[in-house]
Formats: sequence, structure tokens, C-alpha cells
Amino acid sequence: MRAAAFTELTGPEGVNVIEREESDPGPGEAAVDVAACAINRHDLWILEGDSAMVDADDLPFVTGLDVAGTVSAVGEGVDAVEPGDRVVLCPNETCGSCRFCREGPENRCERFSLYHGGLAETACVEADRLVPLPDGVSATTAAAIPTAYMTAFHMLRRADVGPADLVFVPGATGGVGVAAVQLADILGARTIGTSSSASKLERVTELGLDHAIRATEPDEIREEVEAIGTPDAVINHLGGEYTRLGQEVMRRGGTMVVCGRTAGGESTIDVPDLFLGHKRVVGSTMGTQDDLRRLVELTADGDLSPVIDETFPLEATDEAFATMQDRESVGKLVVEPESDR
Ligand SMILES: NC(=O)c1ccc[n+]([C@@H]2O[C@H](COP(=O)([O-])OP(=O)(O)OC[C@H]3O[C@@H](n4cnc5c(N)ncnc54)[C@H](OP(=O)(O)O)[C@@H]3O)[C@@H](O)[C@H]2O)c1
Ligand SMILES: [Zn+2]
Repeated sequence: MRAAAFTELTGPEGVNVIEREESDPGPGEAAVDVAACAINRHDLWILEGDSAMVDADDLPFVTGLDVAGTVSAVGEGVDAVEPGDRVVLCPNETCGSCRFCREGPENRCERFSLYHGGLAETACVEADRLVPLPDGVSATTAAAIPTAYMTAFHMLRRADVGPADLVFVPGATGGVGVAAVQLADILGARTIGTSSSASKLERVTELGLDHAIRATEPDEIREEVEAIGTPDAVINHLGGEYTRLGQEVMRRGGTMVVCGRTAGGESTIDVPDLFLGHKRVVGSTMGTQDDLRRLVELTADGDLSPVIDETFPLEATDEAFATMQDRESVGKLVVEPESDR
């Protein structure tokens, strides 16, 4: 089978289609014919050599967390799915025995990791991690959901976002950003989002963003946010200088949930403002499989339309990463390995 592998960790030019031996599903596993697999900034970190998870010894490396397609075979002891089932993968990998696996939420598992391998014609995955796809949800749409939407959904829930809340989303145009805007809207909240691009903000406004700020400098953004209102929650996937900004603009007792470091892995906190303002800064990673199930249901019911900017055949996976690197897209970029069979 063919796979789009990272053969060098130098950026998009390091992605090449290779032939790989197809493995039979082992006990508890299912083989999935991959119709679609979304890419995430997590994959781009790896490709740019900026992830502790993968180094030159691991090459060629096939990434791809957000797998959707059709089960082609199952291993011993699998009864959750059968060949022919249309499915989407929850990419969480958990130990099953720590206190968080026992008592939840499972995404806090002490040995938490993620599935990688979806940028290929076939993926061998843990069968219990497959969520069935209702008829109305295409594989391409489903592939857009797991990482971005589970993460944003879990973050909004950690911040107790509800009707009429004001949610601040610095960087509102990417995978997690657009998901946060759409899901906040579903929860009845209002949103403020930022971007460096006016045209991308226009598109996100069509998708439900209430207040668009075209700026990247924290001082400029702070002024504009203050003119709009006082956010109850901040969904922060950028890190860096946007963490201090988020803390400064949110209301007393507000919550900022942090899941990423696109703008930097280190941030400063105003300590007196934190305790005098009764503010909370919370870390969050991914979501639970139950979150994914709900998101698929919302999509099937027509309440959520996961946003896909562009799809690419397997051969053009390098272009998908270049598009992400160049900050050209709104929402998700999805590779369709089956499209060029
Ligand atoms: N912990 C978790 O479980 C988890 C899960 C998913 C994602 N994440 C993290 O969340 C972040 C977003 O992931 P994603 O897949 O949604 O990425 P993405 O789609 O590439 O995000 C693009 C967004 O980030 C903004 N952006 C890009 N580079 C920037 C920079 N240097 N400074 C400021 N803004 C910048 C873009 O703004 P413009 O509109 O101005 O281009 C756009 O709004 C990443 O750090 C990722 O690792 C974490
Ligand atoms: Zn565990």
C-alpha cells in the first residue's frame, strides 16, 4: 500500500509517497481503508523537526491522526466493528488501567498518546477506538472532526461556556480556532476572534464569528477586545504572548483554557491579577471518545458543519502541509488517500 511518509524533517519538501507493507490486523485491531485523513499542526511540528516525539531514527514516519474510512478486516476478538462499516477514529491511545482511565476523563490518562499512521491507503487501528459514521456524514467531513473539534469542545466544556457568554479566540481561523467559534455558537455563546488576514476573518464571520479583530499585536488586540466587552472565557491554542493577553482581557473569575504553543512555548502570567481576579488558567489536551461521538451526532443532525478548506490526493500531501505552513486556510485540510486509486 502507499503512504505519504516524512522522509526528512525539513518541512513540506520532506513528504514523499512510499510503498509500505500492509499489516494484517492483530488481536483487537481493525484495518481501515482510509478515505480521508485530516492534518493538524501537530503533524507540521513533527515535519519541521520541532517535536520531541519523532527524530531522524524514526524515518520514514507516517503521521495522520484523524482517520475516516471503511473497515476492511478485523483481528481476533473484535466485535465492535465488522468489514464494510464506515467509521472515524478517535486517535486517543490510553493505558486502560490508570486512575483516569478508570474514573475519567480518559484524555487525562497517565500514559496518554496518539495514533499516527492515517496518511496511507490502509490504517491498522484499535477497533474499540472506532466510532460508526451515520449515513449522512461523509468520510471527508468525519476526518475533519477528531483532533480539532474534540479539543475545542473539551476546552469549551472546561471553561463552562454557556448561553450569552463571551468567548475570546485568538487565532480564530485554523482547525481548533474555527471549531471553537462554531461550537461556542452552538452553546449559545458570542465570540471574538483574531487573525492576520481580513479575508479569512470574513469567512469565519460567515461561519458564526460575532466580532472579528484583524490584528496580531497583543496591545492592538487588547484595545479592540476591551471596546467589545469582557470575555468570560479564552480558548488559547497559540500560547506565547497571547496567554498574558488572554489573562488581561478576561473577566474576574474567568477561565482561560490552553491547548497549544503555535506562538510560543513560554508565556508570562500576571500573578497578582491572577489571584486578585480569581482567574483560572487550565491546560487541556484532546477530548474523550464520548466527545467525538457527540460531535459526529451533531454533524449527522445538521447542527454542526465541520469546515474543510481544501482536500488533497495522497500525492499532494506535501502541498497540504505547505498550505498550513503558509497560513492560507480556514478550517481543516484533508488528504484523501483513496481519491487517486
Ligand atoms: N493539546 C491538544 O490536544 C491539541 C489539539 C489540537 C491542537 N493543538 C494545538 O493547537 C494549536 C492549533 O492547532 P491547529 O491544528 O488548529 O493549527 P492551525 O490550523 O494551523 O491554526 C492556524 C491558526 O493559528 C494562527 N497562527 C499560525 N501561526 C501563528 C503565529 N505564529 N502567531 C499567531 N497566530 C498564528 C493562524 O492565524 P492567521 O489567521 O493569522 O494565519 C490561524 O488562526 C497548535 O499549537 C496545536 O499543536 C493542541
Ligand atoms: Zn490510563
